[in-house]
Amino acid sequence: MSREISTVGVVGLGTMGAGIVEVFARGGLTVIGVESTQEYAERGRGILQASTDRAVARGKLDEAGQAEILGRITITTEYAELAPVDLVVEAVPEIMSLKHEVIGKLEDVLREDAIVALVHTLAGPQEVLAVGTIFPDEQGKPSVHMHAASGREGAATVGCTRAGLRTWLVGEVVLLEISGSTAHRETDAASGFELLELP
Ligand SMILES: NC(=O)c1ccc[n+]([C@@H]2O[C@H](COP(=O)([O-])OP(=O)(O)OC[C@H]3O[C@@H](n4cnc5c(N)ncnc54)[C@H](O)[C@@H]3O)[C@@H](O)[C@H]2O)c1
Repeated sequence: MSREISTVGVVGLGTMGAGIVEVFARGGLTVIGVESTQEYAERGRGILQASTDRAVARGKLDEAGQAEILGRITITTEYAELAPVDLVVEAVPEIMSLKHEVIGKLEDVLREDAIVALVHTLAGPQEVLAVGTIFPDEQGKPSVHMHAASGREGAATVGCTRAGLRTWLVGEVVLLEISGSTAHRETDAASGFELLELP
């Protein structure tokens, strides 16, 4: 089953959120960013302006392209403006009570079939069950991509692990080797993700 995603929301335009807004807008999506106050909304707008200014200065983007990207982004302090989104990413600070408050506000305004994506840092000991792949990247270096269920005592998070992961202990690994494959990971310019290419 596939779903069309054309309008997305991002809550919290800090380090993670502002970057996520830019990646979505560069990918052609209409983006609605929600911040807590007008001051932080302005700061978020400033981060996006500065980041796209840098891309123009480096010749990676022309001014028309920059205007198009920024034109797809609305920044607001009103959660109600998220009503039309197909998907929303929550990127507020790692304070559980705040995350719960935000999820409550989202439930009040989102369509029933809207997807809510959460950005988490896992703190403290976790029990993890994961499955993933190791393929070479563009430089031939092995690149791990893994989806994991992590948690402890009834609270679990399931999703894609990203750079920055620190590992304390690996209990058991089962490796299956695919011989003769020329598949590799390549950085996708639009999303910034390392996608698996199957030539
Ligand atoms: N920074 C990283 O490298 C990193 C990496 C992986 C995961 N994360 C996770 O991403 C999430 C966001 O982290 P960050 O580093 O971007 O935080 P940040 O502090 O840089 O940004 C959070 C933003 O959320 C806004 N905010 C606070 N309350 C809000 C509310 N009620 N409604 C709307 N906006 C609100 C803040 O004003 C701020 O701009 C956290 O869960 C963090 O653990 C961060």
